[in-house]
Amino acid sequence: MSSFSPDWLKLREPYDVRSRNSKVFEAVATFLRPRSSVRIADLACGTGSNFRTLSPHLPAMQSWKLIDKDIGLLKRATATPLSKHIALTAMPLDLHRDLEAALDGPIDLVTTSALLDLVSGTWLDRLARALAARSAPFYAALSYDGRTGFARPDPFDAAIAAGVNAHQRMDKGFGPSLGPAAAAFIIARFKALGYSVVHGVSDWVMGPDDRDIQTEILAGWASAAHHTAALSVADATAWLSRRHAEVAAGHSSLYVGHVDFFAIPSATR
Ligand SMILES: C[S@@+](CC[C@H](N)C(=O)[O-])C[C@H]1O[C@@H](n2cnc3c(N)ncnc32)[C@H](O)[C@@H]1O
Repeated sequence: MSSFSPDWLKLREPYDVRSRNSKVFEAVATFLRPRSSVRIADLACGTGSNFRTLSPHLPAMQSWKLIDKDIGLLKRATATPLSKHIALTAMPLDLHRDLEAALDGPIDLVTTSALLDLVSGTWLDRLARALAARSAPFYAALSYDGRTGFARPDPFDAAIAAGVNAHQRMDKGFGPSLGPAAAAFIIARFKALGYSVVHGVSDWVMGPDDRDIQTEILAGWASAAHHTAALSVADATAWLSRRHAEVAAGHSSLYVGHVDFFAIPSATR
């Protein structure tokens, strides 16, 4: 599964939902609750997971701009069943090229999930400045922060983790990614621009019963490790065989570190 395939996004969605940081989530909901209606832009929406998670907790009248460069994913996002008070507009845009077009028009919240670790420091700085120019609040969920761990260690885990984090820093279409450092970088930029920021961890925690998602995560990590030459193909394959055997036997538990944050401008429109 590719990291943006509909099957992968479907598999991860329930883990994303249960992992979200409740303090940050509640800060977003509390901020928007007094409004009679809300206008929201979801950057890199995929199949609409962020919209499905947030929408039930917001004022009933909602207008969403769902933005992604993948038209197939956008089509799935807009197929989500809707209440009659919710309007969705699909915007097929490349956010590297067309960020400002995505932010055009009146907006009460800009949000994203599982995007920031894919982008460059230059783009994050551009995003923070564009949002500050519009006095727009920003909620970012599920940015990978570089922490991983297993309940039962393996001698190759450290090399795999180094390979995963090196792969995270490669160019995903926005210039060299900040990967695990992305969330801390943009939080610091928002603070420098006068925002206050609520943040907290939103780690994936997978237990022995979470076999399908662990199988996929581990395959992706082995592939990243040999792609970045952190391990030989033989060693990465051997590690993956041992890890998959543990999953099949119901002995595997792991966590993957993520961060959520909500950045609120000093003056909101
Ligand atoms: C890891 S997925 C997250 C999707 C969704 N936000 C979620 O939480 O399930 C990353 C998303 O970024 C989108 N993406 C990647 N590069 C993009 C770009 N340059 N412009 C717009 N979307 C992009 C992908 O198509 C994909 O939907």
